[in-house]
Amino acid sequence: MRTKSIEILKKALKENTAVGAFNTANLEISQSIIRAADNLCKPCIIQATTTTMDYTNNSIGEIVKSVIDKESNGASIGFHLDHGHNLHDVIKAIELGVDSAMIDASKMSFQENKEITKKVVEHAHPKGIAVQAELGRVPYLGREKMSVNWEEIMTDPKQAKELVEETGVDALAIAIGNAHGFFRERNEPDWDRLKEIRKLLPETPLILHGASDWEGKKARKAVKLGINCFNIDTDIRIAFCTALCKMAGGKHCEVSDPRKILKVARDEVQSKVEEKIKLFAG
Ligand code: G3H
Ligand code: 13P
Ligand code: ZN
Repeated sequence: MRTKSIEILKKALKENTAVGAFNTANLEISQSIIRAADNLCKPCIIQATTTTMDYTNNSIGEIVKSVIDKESNGASIGFHLDHGHNLHDVIKAIELGVDSAMIDASKMSFQENKEITKKVVEHAHPKGIAVQAELGRVPYLGREKMSVNWEEIMTDPKQAKELVEETGVDALAIAIGNAHGFFRERNEPDWDRLKEIRKLLPETPLILHGASDWEGKKARKAVKLGINCFNIDTDIRIAFCTALCKMAGGKHCEVSDPRKILKVARDEVQSKVEEKIKLFAG
């Protein structure tokens, strides 16, 4: 059932729980995510980056909308643009059918971040589209030096409050020592920082990017202290590729129907997404 991502996030905030926002790249991964949510009857967000929009020549919008319409029954599913870099990305994603968009200006100065976030909010809100901003930086493996100065890049709680109040943004991605992919994360997340941000922004859903390696106790503690959404990409990409490699490179190389191979990868991703949904929902 298509539901606005912001409604899913606000419900999670109210209930002091969290959902997963899972990245899709194709038909099969979209099916895995939606089937997992439906199977568990839990809300979730399916999201695509501009990389995926380009890769699919923009078909990802129709793919996601169609899979939700044709396959989902009870579970609430939101559709979100992950890591839009400018207003143009957001405009394009809205045309493709997202109900929520991220403007990631985390590499810009605080002032520039506020300005571009405000501009995106002013464009998106009249169309009923919610906006997620990022403050502080969540590093990427392979895109920057292997070690970072965490104190320099984590979210400043007072700035977080100022950004939300001045821009009217709906949700905020924060940096508390988390990192994308298998970049080495801070030894211990900065829990006090998370508590402070949650205290200063009691009504704003907080998003944790780079959550593939946030398991068990660490994820549960993050939920308890105020995280409402975990972004997951790497873990499900790996599940998909590993299943494909096993099928294609191993004893199944006689299979000549790609659907037989992709089906196994799709099932593998569904199990992985179900595992995560259960973890975040508690
Ligand atoms: O956080 C963002 C993604 O994991 C990177 O996604 O390779 O689709 O741009 P992309
Ligand atoms: P991971 O690739 O670490 O799961 O992070 C995903 C993410 O943050 C998508 O925005
Ligand atoms: Zn991210």
